[in-house]
Amino acid sequence: MNVNRKVLTLDEFTLQQLRNFPNATGELSNLLRDIGLAAKRINVEVNKAGLVDILGDAGTVNVQGEDVKKLDVYANDQFMGVLRHGISCAGIGSEELDDSVIFDDEISNNSKYVCLFDPLDGSGNIDVNVSIGTIFGVYRRISEKGKPCTKADFLQPGRNQVAAGYIVYGSSTMMVYATRRGVNGFTLDPSIGEFTLSHPNIKCPESGKIYSVNHGNFFQYDERVQGYIDCCQKKNKDNGGPYTQRYIGSMVSDVHRNLIKGGIFMYPGTASRPGGKLRLLYECNPFAFITEVAGGKATDGKQRILDVQPTTLHQRSPFFVGSRLMMEELETYLSGEV
Ligand code: AHG
Ligand code: MN
Ligand code: MN
Ligand code: MN
Repeated sequence: MNVNRKVLTLDEFTLQQLRNFPNATGELSNLLRDIGLAAKRINVEVNKAGLVDILGDAGTVNVQGEDVKKLDVYANDQFMGVLRHGISCAGIGSEELDDSVIFDDEISNNSKYVCLFDPLDGSGNIDVNVSIGTIFGVYRRISEKGKPCTKADFLQPGRNQVAAGYIVYGSSTMMVYATRRGVNGFTLDPSIGEFTLSHPNIKCPESGKIYSVNHGNFFQYDERVQGYIDCCQKKNKDNGGPYTQRYIGSMVSDVHRNLIKGGIFMYPGTASRPGGKLRLLYECNPFAFITEVAGGKATDGKQRILDVQPTTLHQRSPFFVGSRLMMEELETYLSGEV
């Protein structure tokens, strides 16, 4: 056994990577460290969710009309807390808060970044011990430093993200984040309480065999989407089909698996919800950024997700994301070529 192997922690790696960034002030490294800290705290509560009175509903409904679970609230408070008290973040937007929160204190008003997050993704799965996650996207603020940030800082197109990432609370807990330089994954080592670099320089395989979609909605999808799903199920020697269907119902886990193994994840619009279910700013944009940096693609069915100009904090979007060749195959169906 090689006991001398140097294992980089999240903080060590981030400092080394970002030190050489043009105009680096260390604020982004600090922000990622703060997020890692919130993730560790959330992880502790998620791990004991079956033991303590943290399961079940908080008794409130969020702005999206969803029942809020107690852990959604806990995770939101942890994230907002570390970002408010850190030195890097001027304000936040969250799935669980109706409006953006502008911190407006001396340090925050001089901070470079704003952060958008889904504190707990797949929270409907908590009660049944299925993997859940956290998603975040970081933007350089466009408002003038020295003053409180503004709503416009939160409504930037996803291509402006400087970093995006997720945490998956699964068989192990992992944090994966992307900057323009690459995507790297860190596994929480519970014996030392540190995220350690386990998946350096993640690349999404060009193609794969997994497709992930809620089949229960099949007859509610547009016929072009149905045509592509049919294709996924057919024997096809050119694309390696039939593909394998995998759908956990926690986007973080579904997209994480496809990012590592190769695959495509879809949450299309339905007849009753043409705009789909997933939220552009804190669900689609971070995953679109991570996947593109890893070599894959992400669209809303019509255009690149990262080019969509947001208009509201909680707007929804159809979402298709995954391996480059599988996405290109999907696009032939959506454009009506097939
Ligand atoms: P959240 O728990 O943050 O509200 O998000 C749930 C999302 C996402 O994780 C998942 O992919 C999707 O809901 C599943 O929706 P369906 O049950 O409609 O397939
Ligand atoms: Mn929710
Ligand atoms: Mn979510
Ligand atoms: Mn959520």
